[in-house]
Amino acid sequence: MGQANASVLVVDDEEGIRSFLAEALALSGYEVAEAPDGEAALQLLARRSFHVLLTDLTMPRVDGMTLIRRVRAEQPELEIIVLSAHGTIQTAVEAIKLGAFDFLQKPLESPGELRRLVARAVERHRLRALQEIARAGADEPRLSHGDPAMKPVVRALEKVARTDATVLLIGESGTGKEVAAHAVHRWSARRDGPFVAINCAALSESLLESELFGHEKGAFTGAQTRRRGRLELADGGTFFLDEVGELKPGLQAKLLRVLQERRFERVGGNQTVSADVRWIAATNRDLQAMISRGEFRQDLYHRLAVFPVHLPPLRARPADILPLAQVLLARISAQLGRPSLELAADTHELLRRAPWPGNIRELANTLERAAILSDDGVLRGEDILLTPGRRPPAPAPEVASAISSAAPAPAPAPAPTMAEAEREAIRRALAHVGGNRRKAAEHLGIGLRTLYEKLKRHGLS
Ligand SMILES: Nc1ncnc2c1ncn2[C@@H]1O[C@H](COP(=O)(O)OP(=O)(O)OP(=O)(O)O)[C@@H](O)[C@H]1O
Ligand SMILES: [Mg+2]
Repeated sequence: MGQANASVLVVDDEEGIRSFLAEALALSGYEVAEAPDGEAALQLLARRSFHVLLTDLTMPRVDGMTLIRRVRAEQPELEIIVLSAHGTIQTAVEAIKLGAFDFLQKPLESPGELRRLVARAVERHRLRALQEIARAGADEPRLSHGDPAMKPVVRALEKVARTDATVLLIGESGTGKEVAAHAVHRWSARRDGPFVAINCAALSESLLESELFGHEKGAFTGAQTRRRGRLELADGGTFFLDEVGELKPGLQAKLLRVLQERRFERVGGNQTVSADVRWIAATNRDLQAMISRGEFRQDLYHRLAVFPVHLPPLRARPADILPLAQVLLARISAQLGRPSLELAADTHELLRRAPWPGNIRELANTLERAAILSDDGVLRGEDILLTPGRRPPAPAPEVASAISSAAPAPAPAPAPTMAEAEREAIRRALAHVGGNRRKAAEHLGIGLRTLYEKLKRHGLS
């Protein structure tokens, strides 16, 4: 980022110092805003974001230390530089412990030091943002490996990525909707901005609302500080609304307003906040049918489905199955720390013919379980078939005979009921991933919403 599009907020109660600093920075091409005290600074920070905060310590109303504490809680990405008058060095050191980047001693000898320090802070901000992006995009999968059914899909996603149009991704569970949303962001002009997601199925209505819009201090029990919502955090980037079909009517109405007006209020607040985001929504539900049943607002649907994209199920893109299996296997092999996993010859045919109710996610889970079952790292057909919970596909006769000779049916153990088996599978999956429900759902090859329903049914928490 050049200096021209880096922004600095200068906070000092002494008019003379404040305008001296602001002018020096403006001359260097920074976009500068000023505030006479911490309170005014917080108000400005609530409305828009800055790259660097340059703040005095002793000020009326809200002082510098309080300002830093509050800002650190709400905007960890902001770089802070402290201005300290002679004799407040100790406080400046405290401020750095709170997370300020550096301090400048007053009175300033020349603007040179100021410019150097601000430039360093901006550079640090930029590097951290780049690291975030590198981390997020480290192993972005290819959407397709050449199946003809995917060609128009990829082309449509590439084209729409260059615009700011709202995209609705429609497809069964595990067809790669989230992966596609990431790809659109990566291919868009917003790629250096944030990608922020929210899963409408995973949170209760009230939590979802405060996660989306943020809340003011005291908006509800437990709201001890103001928090910015995910929409604000997505400013300048892409906002991914996952499982949008699960939105309750109240939130559907609120969301519609945000989509229409691009503005909203935090929960418990009346100040209007705006966020510049590109919207992507995803669903595995039939929204049209939900509309006709009165469960989903038609007007919201039209706002979301500006550019609908259907992601085909795995069974409709057979040429992608084997290459996807190879990619997934490489990932599994890294995760399990087993470098030499490979597919046996009979497995190829089996994978192509298998029904994949959970699509790519189920393919991945099946491969992982088969890898765990295999002692020598070769994933044989029998390991795929023995994978618990899978109904064997109807294999071609020659494959069936190869498998039945290779894998005699195991001696029947006293069988648990389906409910017992399911409860145990969920319990173990949760234990395996340290209680993380999203990961557990992925592991089990089911949607998060399904997992929540099952947890309730089995009385697990
Ligand atoms: N093209 C791809 N290459 C490699 N892995 C993929 C690809 N597409 C999806 N996956 C993997 O498959 C799994 C499911 O993908 P994703 O979460 O995007 O699906 P989804 O459609 O959002 O599913 P759900 O509706 O269940 O949330 C993930 O583990 C993802 O990493
Ligand atoms: Mg998803």
